[in-house]
Amino acid sequence: MAPAPLPTAPISTPSTEAMNPRPALRVGLAGLGTVGAGVLRLLAANRAAIEQRAGRPIEIVAVSARDRSRERGVDVSGLRWYENAADLAEDNAVDVVAELIGGDQGTAPALVEAALMRGKPVVTANKALLARHGARLGKLAEAKGVAIAFEAAVAGGIPVIKALREGLGGNRFTRLSGILNGTCNFVLSQMRETGRAFEDVLAEAQALGYAEADPTLDIDGWDAAHKLAVLAAVAFGIPVDLDAVYVEGIRHISPLDIEYADDLGYRIKLLGTAVRTERGIEQRVHPTMVPATEPLALVEGVDNAVVIEGDAVNRLVLQGPGAGAGPTASAVIADLIDLAQGRRLPSFTEATESGLQAVSIAEHAGPCYVRLMVLDQPGVIADVAAELRNERVSMEAMIQRRNHPGSAVPVVLTTHPSQEAALRRALGRIGQLGTVLEPPRMIRIEP
Ligand SMILES: NC(=O)c1ccc[n+]([C@@H]2O[C@H](COP(=O)([O-])OP(=O)(O)OC[C@H]3O[C@@H](n4cnc5c(N)ncnc54)[C@H](OP(=O)(O)O)[C@@H]3O)[C@@H](O)[C@H]2O)c1
Repeated sequence: MAPAPLPTAPISTPSTEAMNPRPALRVGLAGLGTVGAGVLRLLAANRAAIEQRAGRPIEIVAVSARDRSRERGVDVSGLRWYENAADLAEDNAVDVVAELIGGDQGTAPALVEAALMRGKPVVTANKALLARHGARLGKLAEAKGVAIAFEAAVAGGIPVIKALREGLGGNRFTRLSGILNGTCNFVLSQMRETGRAFEDVLAEAQALGYAEADPTLDIDGWDAAHKLAVLAAVAFGIPVDLDAVYVEGIRHISPLDIEYADDLGYRIKLLGTAVRTERGIEQRVHPTMVPATEPLALVEGVDNAVVIEGDAVNRLVLQGPGAGAGPTASAVIADLIDLAQGRRLPSFTEATESGLQAVSIAEHAGPCYVRLMVLDQPGVIADVAAELRNERVSMEAMIQRRNHPGSAVPVVLTTHPSQEAALRRALGRIGQLGTVLEPPRMIRIEP
C-alpha cells in the first residue's frame, strides 16, 4: 500500500487585503471638549476592534479647538492643528469632518456647511444645529451626495437613530416618547426622592456638574426639543422643524405636585413626545404625569430612555446614558464606522411621508392634572366645575385633602381626555375667580 502522502502545509499567499490594506478613513476633528477628547480616547482604547468592524483604520489626522495650550488628557501633539475650524474642510487629507464644537451659530454651522460644500461627509453631535438648520443642511448633503450623520445628537449612547432607521425600518411609527434630557430627569428624580424644591435641587445638580451654569437650555425644555425635532423627522419622514415643537420646561413643578402625582399613581417626567394623529404629527416637550408602573416612570437620575411604538414591533424601550464622554463618543464612532464601511446614510430630507402636517398643541387631546390654590369657602368647587362644564371638560377625580376654612388650600383634579384649547380657556377663567389665589397649574397625563 502506498504511503499516504504527507500533509503539505498550505502555500501561504498574502491576501489581496494584506497586499492592499484599505486606506484609513481620515478624520478632521473640531472640538476637543468632553465629546471630542472622548472620541480620541475611545478610538485609541478600542483601536483594533473598531478597525475590524470598520474594515479599515479610522484615524484622526487634524484637530481644532480654541485654546491650543489647554491640557485635555489626550495627546494631540502629532496632529495638524487648525486655528480656524472651518479650514478642516479645506484639508485635502481629511475625508470626514467631525463637528463636536456645538451651537447653532458661528463656527459649527460654518464648518459643517464648508465640509458639505466640499463634498465631505460630516459627523456631528450637535442637536441645536440640526434642529435649527437640519432641513437646509440635509438638502445640501443630498445635493453633494454625502452624508450628515448624527447618532450622537440624540440620547447620547442610545443608538436610537440606528434603531429607527435600521432595526425598526419595517415599521410605520405611531408614537415616540422619551426622557431626552438627563439634567431635568435628575432634578425631578431628586425632588421626588427628597421632597426638596426645584431651585435647591438645581443648585445641587450644578455643583455635581449635571447642570450647566446657565441651565436654561436644559431646564426650559429646549435641549429635549432639539432632540425631539430630530427624532420626529427620522421616525415620521417629515422635515426637521423646531418651530413645530411645543416646549414647556420644569421650572414650575413644585414638591406639592410631585406629592400629588405619587398619590395618584404617577411620576412627573419631562417627556418629549411625537405622536401620529389623524390630523398629522404632534411634537411636544412638557412635564408629563406617567403611570408609575410604565418603563419611563422608572428611569431615574441622568439616564435617558425612548419608547418607540410601531405597527409591527408594537412597543420597544431603549434606555441608557444620554450624555458623557464615553457614551457620546460611542455614538460618534458608530457613525464613523458606517462611513468607513462606505454605507450610504440617509439624511433628514428624504421624506418618506411627505404631506404630514404639524399639529399644534391647541389641538392636542388628553387627560390632565390641574392644581388650584383656593380659598376654603363654600361654592368654590361649584364655580370651578361650572367653568369646566362650559368648555365641556369632564372631571375624572377631585382631591381636597386639607380643610382650613377661610385659608388657602390646594385642590387637585384630573380630567378625562379633553381638548387642550378648551381646558386652557376654562383655566383662564378659573384663574380669574376671586377665590382662586394662584394661576392654575396643569400637567398633562400620558395614558
Ligand atoms: N457633553 C455631552 O455629554 C454631549 C452629549 C451629546 C451631545 N453633545 C454635543 O456635542 C457637542 C460638543 O459638546 P461638549 O460637551 O464636548 O462641549 P465642550 O466640552 O464645551 O467642548 C467644546 C469644544 O469645542 C471647542 N470650540 C469652541 N468654540 C470653538 C471654535 N470657534 N473653534 C474651534 N473649536 C471650538 C472648545 O475648545 P476649547 O477646549 O479650546 O475651549 C472645546 O474643545 C455639542 O454639540 C453638544 O451638544 C454633548
